[in-house]
Amino acid sequence: MDLTNKVALVTGSGRGIGQAIGMKLSEVGATVVINDVDEAAANQAAELIKSQQHQSLAIAADVSSADDINRMVETIKRTYGKIDILVNNAGISRDKLVMVMSDEDWDKVLNISLKSAFLCSRAVLRYMVKQRWGRIINISSLAGVVGNAGQANYASAKAGLIGFTKSLAKEIASRNITVNAVAPGFIDTDMTQKLDDKYKDELKKRIPSGTFGSPRDVAEAVAFFASDEAGYITGQVLNIDGGIGGL
Ligand SMILES: NC(=O)c1ccc[n+]([C@@H]2O[C@H](COP(=O)([O-])OP(=O)(O)OC[C@H]3O[C@@H](n4cnc5c(N)ncnc54)[C@H](O)[C@@H]3O)[C@@H](O)[C@H]2O)c1
Repeated sequence: MDLTNKVALVTGSGRGIGQAIGMKLSEVGATVVINDVDEAAANQAAELIKSQQHQSLAIAADVSSADDINRMVETIKRTYGKIDILVNNAGISRDKLVMVMSDEDWDKVLNISLKSAFLCSRAVLRYMVKQRWGRIINISSLAGVVGNAGQANYASAKAGLIGFTKSLAKEIASRNITVNAVAPGFIDTDMTQKLDDKYKDELKKRIPSGTFGSPRDVAEAVAFFASDEAGYITGQVLNIDGGIGGL
């Protein structure tokens, strides 16, 4: 895989899976724009990439805001002249049973985890279409494939990302732009560290590999989808889950 001369934007990449994706893409040659709503985290992740002698730029922006996204995309265009790869990674969870879930719990998760992918894709597509090359990779979740009690908002956002991936892939395949998704199972990040230890041990017993995945496991697959080598693959969802599959 060689992403030399490619410019990649990874949303929510100040920490966790997004940060690992940013790091991996930079290792294979891409210039990586680190976006996060947490400015300090974005700066730190970009500095880490720069310390490895790769190019990176941090942009603090909230991906649920169309204004923030337009400002971010304009900055990237002004700085690098193009955007080749978009990874829609930013996402949050606010777990509650449906009976006690507030409108805000629903809207916030859907806006940050699903609407953001639509807004960011729309903003970069005109550049990708013009250059007749582009890669969009959406970070879905096993919860979006099989559902999860207590996560109706999150699972709906992640299932929505799969529908979005498959539809957009069909819209723009003829322009040499691919759109794929990954559906990670349980990955060791701040998001899963919130789970209590007993529940984590139970989960591990149900995962055929016996372990949680690492952010790097997700990053490797994303780098493949971003590469020229994956040019004839579009509209696909790849589970990265240690074999847990249908739960
Ligand atoms: N960890 C897992 O087990 C797992 C499994 C499946 C899917 N995922 C998905 O992978 C993605 C990354 O998850 P993670 O585990 O690294 O989470 P994380 O909580 O560790 O990191 C998420 C990052 O997104 C940023 N973010 C939050 N809201 C934002 C906004 N409005 N605009 C810009 N950035 C924002 C956060 O500041 C944070 O840096 C998410 O979409 C998540 O749903 C995670």
